[in-house]
Amino acid sequence: MNDEYLTERLLLTPLTPDDLEDVHRVYGDERTWRHLPSGRHLDRGISMATIERSSKSRREHGFGMNAVRLREPVGDLAPGTFAGVAGASMMAFGAWNLSYRFAPDAWGHGLAVEAARRSLAAAIEGAPAAPVTARVLANNPASIRVLERLGLELAWRGASSAEPTHDGDTTHLERLVFSDRALDEPVLDAVIALG
Ligand SMILES: CC(C)(COP(=O)(O)OP(=O)(O)OC[C@H]1O[C@@H](n2cnc3c(N)ncnc32)[C@H](O)[C@@H]1OP(=O)(O)O)[C@@H](O)C(=O)NCCC(=O)NCCS
Repeated sequence: MNDEYLTERLLLTPLTPDDLEDVHRVYGDERTWRHLPSGRHLDRGISMATIERSSKSRREHGFGMNAVRLREPVGDLAPGTFAGVAGASMMAFGAWNLSYRFAPDAWGHGLAVEAARRSLAAAIEGAPAAPVTARVLANNPASIRVLERLGLELAWRGASSAEPTHDGDTTHLERLVFSDRALDEPVLDAVIALG
C-alpha cells in the first residue's frame, strides 16, 4: 500500500491524527463552507472523526483522505505548506466518495485539480470495481469545474436536502452527482439518499 502520492507540485500523505490542527484549520474556516455553512467543523472532535473515517477507508479499501502539501513554491506559498485535503472514502454501499477542501490562500493555482486527479487514480487502483462518485451543490461552480476537469460525468441533478441559508439563498438546494462510470440504480439511489 502506498504511503504517499506524488504529483508535479504536491505530496499527498494519508491523513493521521498528526494532521489534526491543519485539517481543523481548513475545515473550521467558514470560507471553505460558503456553499454549505452547516458543514463547518466547529470543534476538533469533528475533524478528528473525519481523520478516523479516512483511516478506516484506507485500512479496509486501500485509500482514504490525504493531507496535501506543496513540494515547491506556489504563488506566495512556501514548499511544505499544508494546502488542503483531497482523496476518496469508500462508502458502505461500495462506491468511492471523492472530495477535497483547500485553504483559501491556496485557491486558484490548479492545486485542487492536481490533487483530485491523483486521488481519482489512487481510488481506482485501490478498488477498481467500485465506481468513483462525487456530490456537489449547484452553487459551487469551482468544485463542479474540478470534477469536469477530471473527466467525471454528471450522473444526476436534483433537489438537495440541505437547509436554506439564513440569507435566503436557495441556489444550494440543487445538487449534482458525478461519477467516473455509469451507476447501477441502487448505487445512484444510495448516493442521492446521502443528501
Ligand atoms: C473547490 C476548491 C477545492 C477549488 O480549489 P482551487 O484550488 O481554486 O481549484 P483549482 O485552481 O484546481 O481549479 C478550479 C477550477 O474551477 C475554476 N473556478 C474557480 N472558481 C470558480 C468560480 N467561482 N466559478 C467558476 N469556476 C471557478 C477555475 O478556473 C478552475 O477551472 P479551470 O482549470 O478550467 O480554469 C476550493 O474552492 C475549495 O476548497 N472550496 C471549498 C470547499 C469545497 O467546496 N469543496 C468541494 C465540496 S463538493
